[in-house]
Amino acid sequence: MSDTSAVSVYGGITNRRITVTDLARAKESGEKWPMLTAYDAVTAALFEEAGVPVLLVGDSAAMVVHGHSTTLPITLDELVPLTAAVVRGTSRALVVADLPFGSYQEGPKQALRSATRFMKESGAHAVKLEGGQRVVPQIRALVEAGIPVMAHVGLTPQSVNTIGGYKVQGRGEAGHALLDDAMAVQAAGAFAVVLEVVPHDLAERVTKEVDIPTIGIGAGNATDAQVLVWQDLLGLTPGRTPKFVKPYADLRAVMTGAVTAWADDVRAGAYPDLDHSYT
Ligand code: KIV
Repeated sequence: MSDTSAVSVYGGITNRRITVTDLARAKESGEKWPMLTAYDAVTAALFEEAGVPVLLVGDSAAMVVHGHSTTLPITLDELVPLTAAVVRGTSRALVVADLPFGSYQEGPKQALRSATRFMKESGAHAVKLEGGQRVVPQIRALVEAGIPVMAHVGLTPQSVNTIGGYKVQGRGEAGHALLDDAMAVQAAGAFAVVLEVVPHDLAERVTKEVDIPTIGIGAGNATDAQVLVWQDLLGLTPGRTPKFVKPYADLRAVMTGAVTAWADDVRAGAYPDLDHSYT
């Protein structure tokens, strides 16, 4: 029989926000959890209702909200209001705000200024930044200031121009450097680390070696948690998606069908009918 007294990291907590301490406990008890991106209040509320304990306001908003071809152009000024909307739309999820390209690379002071804006202006509960050893001073400064930090190693899209494309990271000898990066961000005080597009056996090794939760995206199923961009998960992203994306719905077809039907009814004078009109 299953142990029903075990408290789920999310399902058992109904009257307060999830905290980084809850996530640390989940790692200890071996409980896996999902994280999803969110960029507005309505979908954030829906994802929370569906039982997603952690929402990431990713700089992927550059692509899926603003229509850019990379994550590089998005700014703090653009991400702060999206994060505030996600916080307002939820009451239980931990909301993580992604520090955009150019908002922390100068060093700890700039990182602290940028992260402070997220915490004060949007109500975010944590921030995320990309990089391993090279961002250790930034992570230290944020954690010392009381800001929880999620790190992100492997494929770091903000470095797409130095990486030379969206390729698998950490294969062969490069796996040692990736493990070192994960150990370095943990030592600097990060509460979790995203592992993006790395071989599944490397992700498994990192997950065993670090004490903080690992969150995989294209990293196999041995990580402590999984994250996806919600438009990929729900089949809204046009064109080719990466190998790790398994759409759980075809929202593109559902939405296109509904909008086409409505537009046809408008053209035919069939909408609104009397049932949807006032007397
Ligand atoms: O910006 C983002 O959405 C991300 C996740 C995919 C990890 O960084």
